[in-house]
Amino acid sequence: MTLLTVDNLRTTFRTDDGPVCAVDGVSLTVGAGKVLGIVGESGSGKSALSLSIMGLLPESATVEGSIRLGEQELVGLSKHDLRALRGSEVAMIFQDPMTCLNPVLTIGWQLVEAVRLHQQVSRREARKLAIDGLAAVGIPSPEDRLRTYPHELSGGMRQRVMIAMALLNRPRLLIADEPTTALDVTTQAQILELMRDLRREVDAAIVLITHDLGVVAEVCDEVAVMYAGRIVERAPVDELFAQPQHPYTWGLLASLPGRSRTGQRLHQIPGAPPSLLSPPPGCRFAPRCALVLDACRTDPAPSLAPVGAGGSQVACLLDQSTRDREGARYAAGEESA
Ligand SMILES: Nc1ncnc2c1ncn2[C@@H]1O[C@H](COP(=O)(O)OP(=O)(O)OP(=O)(O)O)[C@@H](O)[C@H]1O
Ligand SMILES: [Mg+2]
Repeated sequence: MTLLTVDNLRTTFRTDDGPVCAVDGVSLTVGAGKVLGIVGESGSGKSALSLSIMGLLPESATVEGSIRLGEQELVGLSKHDLRALRGSEVAMIFQDPMTCLNPVLTIGWQLVEAVRLHQQVSRREARKLAIDGLAAVGIPSPEDRLRTYPHELSGGMRQRVMIAMALLNRPRLLIADEPTTALDVTTQAQILELMRDLRREVDAAIVLITHDLGVVAEVCDEVAVMYAGRIVERAPVDELFAQPQHPYTWGLLASLPGRSRTGQRLHQIPGAPPSLLSPPPGCRFAPRCALVLDACRTDPAPSLAPVGAGGSQVACLLDQSTRDREGARYAAGEESA
């Protein structure tokens, strides 16, 4: 069953220099019990996409297109209705924990309120759930922690508190934006395990944004590769690693001989992504693509189209034999940075 359906989403920020279209015609679906990974360089629109889904964009942003949770349309929903959904049916783990922790309230107060806002339980039960939640994310002496304020905790501990808070009400949709980046390897593994639990227990759909292809290989069912506001490739995770189709994806894979190891950062592809204030016509990756054709620069950008029988989709004008040949070289690790 499809839980999240994003259809032709466009998110534009008003800035002093002009409109910045951070998400430009993105469509995706995530089924219940599935994990979709989103990868892409800094600035490709991953956070803008997640904040759009959560209804947490600043006033300077406009959203066009459709975002559905089951049958319910989220675009255009009132602030009040969105707030009711957040923390119960949908939850998000942010890159920066202080985006969702209140600095002037204790951890305990915030966790207990988060439970009581969405579940009919006594304070005592809520407190118990909060303590269990903290213990589950590996916070030592969780009971004592309830009395602390966010600033009294280390960055890693704050991250864990935020994750505990996101998971408290067992959301059906969890969006995790770089949830493990600030954490050590053991804690990372613990957090990924918690996500697996959530998926098992409540058949949750998870969108996992990460720079870490090792994490993708370990926990994702499908992957969407974002470049300059668009999805350029989408594939089941095994397909992505076995038969990567887009030249940008090849670049991401190029530095990963030991890609089953976690902690691998994405490799730097020569050149820089285009400015989203005035993106190039045609394919946005064309200026950095080693195999660029004239048509890539002049024709309208290709949209995602199915390739092969494995369920992959790619937005690229190269012919299939070239993509198969080149993709196989990167998959085999013959090309490295
Ligand atoms: N509030 C904002 N106002 C104006 N522009 C913004 C705003 N937030 C994001 N942008 C722009 O939108 C684009 C996408 O940013 P976003 O934060 O979504 O990237 P990202 O893929 O999450 O990057 P990272 O990997 O660094 O987290 C960038 O060009 C960024 O400058
Ligand atoms: Mg981001």
